[in-house]
Amino acid sequence: MAVSYSQLGLVNTVDMFKKAVKGGYAIPAYNFNNMEQLQAIVMACTETLSPVILQVSSGARKYANQTLLQYMAQGAVEYAKELNKGKNIPICLHLDHGDTYELCVSCIESGFSSVMIDGSHHDYETNVELTKKVVEYAHKHNVTVEGELGVLAGVEDEVSSETHTYTEPDQVEDFVKKTGVDSLAISIGTSHGAFKFKPGQNPKIRLDILQEIEKRIPGFPIVLHGSSSVPQELVKKINEYGGKLKDAIGIGEDQLREAAKSAVCKINIDSDGRLAMTAAIREVFAKQPQEFDPRKYLGPARDALKELYKHKNDAVLGSSGHAFD
Ligand code: G3H
Ligand code: 13P
Ligand code: ZN
Repeated sequence: MAVSYSQLGLVNTVDMFKKAVKGGYAIPAYNFNNMEQLQAIVMACTETLSPVILQVSSGARKYANQTLLQYMAQGAVEYAKELNKGKNIPICLHLDHGDTYELCVSCIESGFSSVMIDGSHHDYETNVELTKKVVEYAHKHNVTVEGELGVLAGVEDEVSSETHTYTEPDQVEDFVKKTGVDSLAISIGTSHGAFKFKPGQNPKIRLDILQEIEKRIPGFPIVLHGSSSVPQELVKKINEYGGKLKDAIGIGEDQLREAAKSAVCKINIDSDGRLAMTAAIREVFAKQPQEFDPRKYLGPARDALKELYKHKNDAVLGSSGHAFD
């Protein structure tokens, strides 16, 4: 049976983005696949009083089961309320990289308050057509839609592309007007995963393209995917305890902070969380090889994740303290 997100206590992105653009900060969009990740997100965002977007990829849906995810999101709302003594931070449940109209509809029917339709691998006209179709359905249900123009290098969900195709500033106004999307993901040099730049390469994103885009659609909510910073202390720890991550490089936090001050109002982070959990688990396995109770390694992983997210909200996104703006 179809369920509406408002019945679950979730919100769409309209107010969140309006306030974020005005306030010069970005809403964290953290991916989750399991209970510990969700707990860490909720704990970090209630402690820092930050609004939050819980992000689910199609891979996460396959991994965790969509029914379970729906109830987990509902549980997250109740849990946040409990932690915050009855007052809830705004929580949005968002489909990350939806690739078909049918998937977006299915998510909306199962309680998602926001969906991304990623038509960026199609030609421009097909992207417009597909995105518009999703917007028409979603808006009937008061669900917000993120579209994408330009292709990020690296792995986008199950689709892989070797090189960036930067977003063309000349196209954004037309795309936004024709599709009716609520926010736009752009490609300015970020990429998915932990290997965003080659050693020796200048690890910079194209803030000049971002500025050009902002000129064409002033104040319109912009989204940055692939925004993990790949903290080197985590890479070092993983390798120290038996991992093999070579040349893992991310986006500098200072550049993301700069972007968050502009019309970038949603920043997607997944890989950094994976690194934090992996480092903590590897440390337990290396130092206490006798342990086999999952709580003994997933617990420290969850704590590490929570600290990472608190740091992101405070120092990178600037979203801390904005839950009740
Ligand atoms: O953009 C990709 C996200 O990090 C989700 O990754 O498809 O492995 O769940 P996933
Ligand atoms: P990272 O791989 O840089 O964390 O990006 C995640 C993302 O963009 C999810 O959509
Ligand atoms: Zn992404």
